[in-house]
Amino acid sequence: MQRKSILLLISGGIAAYKSAELIRLLRKAGVGVTCVLTKGGAQFVTPLTLGALSENKVYTDLFDLKDEVEMGHIQLSRATDMIIVCPASADILAKMAAGIADDLATTILLATDKPVIVAPAMNVRMWQHAATRRNVAQLRADGVTIIEPDVGEMACGEFGPGRLPEPAALLTHVLAALAGDSADALAGQPDFADDNVDALDGRHILITAGPTHEAIDPVRYIANKSSGKQGFAIAAAAADAGANVTLVAGPVNLPTPPGVTRIDVTSAREMAATVEKALPADVAIMVAAVADWRAAAIAPTKIKKDGSGIIPPLPLTQNPDILAGLASSPQRPGLLIGFAAETDNVIAHAQAKLARKGCDWIIANDVAADPMGGEVNRVHIITANGVESWDRLSKSAVARAIIAKIAEILPGME
Ligand code: CTP
Repeated sequence: MQRKSILLLISGGIAAYKSAELIRLLRKAGVGVTCVLTKGGAQFVTPLTLGALSENKVYTDLFDLKDEVEMGHIQLSRATDMIIVCPASADILAKMAAGIADDLATTILLATDKPVIVAPAMNVRMWQHAATRRNVAQLRADGVTIIEPDVGEMACGEFGPGRLPEPAALLTHVLAALAGDSADALAGQPDFADDNVDALDGRHILITAGPTHEAIDPVRYIANKSSGKQGFAIAAAAADAGANVTLVAGPVNLPTPPGVTRIDVTSAREMAATVEKALPADVAIMVAAVADWRAAAIAPTKIKKDGSGIIPPLPLTQNPDILAGLASSPQRPGLLIGFAAETDNVIAHAQAKLARKGCDWIIANDVAADPMGGEVNRVHIITANGVESWDRLSKSAVARAIIAKIAEILPGME
C-alpha cells in the first residue's frame, strides 16, 4: 500500500486513552497520523502524548494564527487520506449532524472532501437517546461510516452498547477503509444499521447464555469456558430493538443489560425447567454452552481421598437437550435458533446439528480460531437454505446483525 495518512480527531470521553494505542498501532502499520484534539479530548489525553506517539504536530485550537499561516484548517482537512473521529462523543456527533463548526475539529469535518469514519463512545443511555439515534442516522445518510460501539461494562458501571471497541479492532476498520477505494469501510460487515430500534417491538425473545455448572459434590463441579458475552450481547441488542427479553443465564460474571429480565440458574436441568416456564416466546436463541453430562449422583459430602491411591470413579449421565426439547414442544417458538461452537469441520458439524436438533438456524463459530471467552466471533448462519458466513466481528456487532436478521424475517413468518 502506498504510504497513507489519516487525520485523527480526538473528542472528549474516558475512551480517549484508547486513541493513544490506536496511534501506536497505525504507526506500526506504516500509516502517518496527524492528531487534532478538541477541548474535551484534552481533558483526557495530552498533546504531548499524542505528539510523541504520532511523531507529528498536534493541533488543538482553530484560532492559533501561527498554525493558520503554516497550515490552514481547510488545507489540514484535505491533506489526508481519511478522517477518523475517535472517540466521538455525543456532542461531536450532534455538531457533525447539524453542520456546526465552532472549533478546529468540527471546522475540519465541515471543510473536508475526504471519507470520514467515526467511532462513537459514550454512556449507554446517551447512545440510546432519541437525539443520538437521529444524529447517527443523519450521519449515515450523509455518507459517514460509523464503527458501532461495543456492548460491555461502562466506566460509569452501567452495561450496554456505548463502549469504544478495542484499538486492535479499530485498526482493522481503519486499514480496511484505507485499503479499499470505497468509503464503505465496513463493506464486509452484515447490514445492521441502527434501524433495529423498535424492529422487535412487543416480541418475546427467550435467550440462554453462559455455561452450566454440574455439581459433583458440595465443592466441585463440571463446567466449561463459556463467558456468556455473546448471549448477553444478543439480549442487549434484542432489548434495544424493543423486544421483551428473558435471559436465562448460567453462572457468569456479567451485569444485566438494561431492559432485560434475567433469571440466573446453575445446572442444565434448572436451565431446562426455567426455559420451559418462560414459554411462550416468539423467538428462542439458545446460546448457552450447556453441559452435556452431569454426575450420575451428587455426593452429599465432600469426596475425600481415602489414602488408597485409588481414584474415585465419576459416573456421568446425560443432561436434557434444551434446544431439541423446545423443537419438539407443542409451544415451539416460531423461530428457534441454536448455536454451535466447533473446533473442526465447523460447517459440516453445524449442518448435522441443524437437522439433529430440529431448529431453524444454527449459528456456528470456530472456537479453535476464536477461543471461548474472547471479544470477537466469526460466525456462519446455517439454515435449510444454505450457509451465510460473516466477517470476524466484535460480539456486539454479531449480536446486532443477528437481531437485524431476525427482525427482517419475523414479519413474513406470520
Ligand atoms: N444445547 C441445549 N441443551 C444441551 C446441549 C446443547 O440446549 N443439553 C444447545 C446449545 O445451547 C446450542 C446447541 O444446543 O444452542 C448446540 O450445542 P452443542 O453443545 O454444540 O451441541 P451438542 O448437541 O452438545 O453437540 P456436541 O456433540 O458438539 O457436543
